[in-house]
Amino acid sequence: MDPRSNPYAPGAGTPPPELAGRDEIIEQASIALHRIANGRAAQSLILYGLRGVGKTVLLNRIRLDAEEEGYVPTVIEASEDRSLPAILGPALRSTLIWLSRGEAANKWLRKALGALASFVGAAKLKYEDVELNVDFEALLGLADSGDLDTDLVDLLRTVGEAAAERGTAVILFIDELQYVPEEQLAALIGALHAVSQRQLPITLVGAGLPQLLGQRGRARSYAERLFEFVPIDALGPEAARQALCTPAEKEGVQSEGAAVDEIITRTQGYPYFLQEWGKHAWREADASPITREDALRASEVALAELDVSFFRVRFDRLTPSEKRYLRAMAELGPGPHRSGEIAELLSKRQSAVAPVRNRIISKGMAYSPAHGDTAFTVPLFDSFMRRMMPEFP
Ligand SMILES: Nc1ncnc2c1ncn2[C@@H]1O[C@H](COP(=O)(O)OP(=O)(O)OP(=O)(O)O)[C@@H](O)[C@H]1O
Ligand SMILES: [Mg+2]
Repeated sequence: MDPRSNPYAPGAGTPPPELAGRDEIIEQASIALHRIANGRAAQSLILYGLRGVGKTVLLNRIRLDAEEEGYVPTVIEASEDRSLPAILGPALRSTLIWLSRGEAANKWLRKALGALASFVGAAKLKYEDVELNVDFEALLGLADSGDLDTDLVDLLRTVGEAAAERGTAVILFIDELQYVPEEQLAALIGALHAVSQRQLPITLVGAGLPQLLGQRGRARSYAERLFEFVPIDALGPEAARQALCTPAEKEGVQSEGAAVDEIITRTQGYPYFLQEWGKHAWREADASPITREDALRASEVALAELDVSFFRVRFDRLTPSEKRYLRAMAELGPGPHRSGEIAELLSKRQSAVAPVRNRIISKGMAYSPAHGDTAFTVPLFDSFMRRMMPEFP
């Protein structure tokens, strides 16, 4: 069919033609942010789930809704090798500039900008990757102790006060939250807890891989009070059908039931895969309706394409020993697997492979759903590993 009107949108963070199955979470976020903006108690949301399950597009959707409500988003994507101060500084600077738009900075904004300048100045001495220069005079004694825990409280409090004074709320949207080092994440959560007790309109909506659950460290009890940790899973059959069929139907294209069944089975309802399969089924079909044969051909092409893109980019970041570890996991199936069993397959003691396992987890390739268990963070990665490395051991 005409590739010009192919509606599907596979890609990291690419908004889908139909955001299926997430209405409840969107509504839950909207209620929570509204309450927090108005000084009422509420739990904000931290979304967690596997790769390609739709966390980023959901976070972006919640952000757009928040913007529509007049709140000010601070958008941050954490990455593997950056410190929290390095990513937070520039983002908050933009937020404060946005808050002061149209008017000369008032007392509250000047204080927040001063706190940011102090914070950045102190953080530079401790975190090598902090580069920002805040063209504003630092406020001595505010957010400049060099202790992240207390400095973040000062910083977020002054930002929250500036937001309150402007009659709005500042929402930190942090994606890939699992990459924020545990101590720094704990400091952030602790600071958010401190400002929430003052009913200031500032909060965090986060998203990340399931390892996030284990990374709350000493801030665990605060985290549980402040946030609802919302699992983002593959779509159930009804939502998967909607994600797949609605975009085509809007273009006047129907699908045979058997075609839909084939795609839902093969993708297991994972959003990224639904987009990929949808795109290829559209390409394979000559005309409406999309048939089971089209879907079968699409399966082959889609898998081949994932093997050189989605899966491959992740595989290429692994060292040989990490590949062997994941290959051993793949031997056991989709998982989760007992770490002892994996070590056994590698003919190694568990303690000997523990460092490899830790590296794989910090790279975001696996996580530990329960003590002593290891699971893939990328859906269908086990069969990919078997295709890539057919020989094992
Ligand atoms: N609810 C949904 N319905 C239909 N398609 C979706 C849905 N959620 C996400 N998608 C599609 O799935 C793909 C992956 O989405 P997204 O990048 O948000 O996943 P992610 O969970 O952030 O993955 P990662 O962990 O790799 O960052 C995109 O192509 C997106 O359009
Ligand atoms: Mg994402």
